[in-house]
Amino acid sequence: MSDADSRMRDIMSRATVIPVYTPGSIEEAIQVARVLARSGIEVIEVTLRNGIAMDALKAMIEVTPGIAIGAGTVVTTRQMETVAAMGAAFAVSPGTTPSLISASQHANLPYLPGIATASELMQGMQFGLSCFKFFPAAQAGGPALLSAFSGPFSDAVFCPTGGITLKTAPDYLRLKNVLCVGGSWLTTPERLAKSDWQGIEDAAKAINTLVY
Ligand code: 3PG
Repeated sequence: MSDADSRMRDIMSRATVIPVYTPGSIEEAIQVARVLARSGIEVIEVTLRNGIAMDALKAMIEVTPGIAIGAGTVVTTRQMETVAAMGAAFAVSPGTTPSLISASQHANLPYLPGIATASELMQGMQFGLSCFKFFPAAQAGGPALLSAFSGPFSDAVFCPTGGITLKTAPDYLRLKNVLCVGGSWLTTPERLAKSDWQGIEDAAKAINTLVY
């Protein structure tokens, strides 16, 4: 296990749920970082899905230095280099490519590439990785598929993401190869449109009530 892979494991272990947040503006992103941090969230994935996402990520890293803020939807090596230089704690991709894995290793950046099949997982493991995003979790086979992976791939650990809710999270969290789950259900477009910080705080605090 490389140093970056081991740091990725530590980051995953700090979270029960990693909120997946797509920023609408810099001001909103700063509010979201503060609200999530004061609600006990220790790890956030900020998706790079629009033109302001990089600047929003940078602002969030600056205002909440105590929590691990990672960049999601990293699909180019250039994005990997940029987020590493910016101080992102980790990077996440929806899929796995050799060039992205190499770029993360070159940058010594903890990395969570997405996998949905045994072959994709094996490709990532060939590069020495042991931490993976299972995406899209609900659509690709859910807890049953991850449970089946624990036999042949006992060293791999997962953060399933995609279609997971507060209600279904325990079905994943109780698996021995799952360290945390990811989901966008805390920072929904509806709550963000209304600047409903209390709703986001309540959703974050509800994670503490999960039984698994
Ligand atoms: C992701 O990028 O990880 C997913 O879009 C999050 O999935 P969800 O919106 O179904 O939680």
